[in-house]
Amino acid sequence: MAASSNVESDRFVATLSADAQWPLQRLASAVTPVVDVGITLARTVRRGRATELARLGHQWNALGRRDALGAVLTRPWTAPEWDVADFFETGRADVERLMRAIARRAPRLTTRRALDFGCGVGRLTQALASHFTAVQGVDVAASMIARARLENPTPARCHFVVNRRPHLRRFKTGTFDLVYSRLVLQHMPPSLVRRYIPELVRVLAPGGLLVFQLPAVISDPRRSFCEAPVRGRFKRALPRRMVQAYRGLKYPLCQPPPSGMDMFGMARDTVVELVEGAGGRIIVTTSDDSHGTRAPGFEYWVTRSAAA
Ligand SMILES: C[S@@+](CC[C@H](N)C(=O)[O-])C[C@H]1O[C@@H](n2cnc3c(N)ncnc32)[C@H](O)[C@@H]1O
Repeated sequence: MAASSNVESDRFVATLSADAQWPLQRLASAVTPVVDVGITLARTVRRGRATELARLGHQWNALGRRDALGAVLTRPWTAPEWDVADFFETGRADVERLMRAIARRAPRLTTRRALDFGCGVGRLTQALASHFTAVQGVDVAASMIARARLENPTPARCHFVVNRRPHLRRFKTGTFDLVYSRLVLQHMPPSLVRRYIPELVRVLAPGGLLVFQLPAVISDPRRSFCEAPVRGRFKRALPRRMVQAYRGLKYPLCQPPPSGMDMFGMARDTVVELVEGAGGRIIVTTSDDSHGTRAPGFEYWVTRSAAA
C-alpha cells in the first residue's frame, strides 16, 4: 500500500513538475530572444559610440597635424596662417571675458583647479593658468595635445592629456572648481554630447562652475556642406543652385567632409534636462553665436550643490 501510494505520488510529482516546467520553459524561450536582442543592441550602441569617437579623434588628429591653430580658430581661406602670439591672445581675451562674468555671477568661486575640456592646443588652458593654481587640458586628438605641450609656457601649472574615452572617469567626482569647454561639444554627435555633459557635471566640485556653449539647432551636416560658402573663381561663376546640387551628389563620398569638421547642436531643453539629470543646476543661459553659423546658440552656466 505504502509502495503503491509512493508510486502514485511519484507519478503525480512527475506529472506536476512536467506541467509546472511547461510555462517556465515557454517563458524562458520567450524571454531569451528578447534578452539576446537587448544585449546585441547594447553592444551595437556601444560599438557605434566607439566608432563615432574614433572617427572624431581621427578627424581632429588629422586637422591638428595639418594646421592646428587654423583648425581651432578657422579663418577665411585667403587669410595668412595664424601668428602664434595673436592666436594665444584670443584665448587671453576669452578668459578675461569669462573671469569678468565670474566676478559678477559667481564671485566666491574657488580658483584651485580648472578643467579645459577639448583644449586643442591650449589656447584657453594657458590663459586659465593665470587665474587658477592648476589647469588640466583634455583633448581627443594626440596632435593637438602634442602642440599644446610644445607651446606650454607654464608646465608646472598647465597639464595636458589625451582622452579617447566617451567619459572622464580618469578624474574623480568633484575634482574641479571650474570646468570650461568652448567650441568643442558643437563638433560632437548628440549621442556623445549626452555622455559628456553628465561627466562634466560629475567632475565639478560642489559649488563649482561649469561653463560651455552649444548651438541650439541640430544642424544637418549634409545641408551645411551643400550650403557652405562657394570658393574658387570657376565655381563662383556658376549658378549657386548648380553648385549645391553638385555638392549633394558629392557629399556621400566626402567622409570626413572637406572642412574636416562636422557641426551639431542640441535643443536647449534637452541640454537643461541632461544637466539637471546629472545633479547640476543651471545658473543662467545666455545667447551665444560663437559657433559661427546662423543657428541660435546658448552659453550654459551650471553649478553643482554639495548634496548632488
Ligand atoms: C575648435 S577646437 C577648440 C579648442 C579649444 N577649446 C579652444 O577654444 O581653443 C575643438 C577641439 O575639441 C576637441 N575635441 C573634439 N571632440 C572631443 C572629445 N570627444 N573629447 C575631447 N576633445 C574633443 C578637438 O580635438 C579640438 O581640439
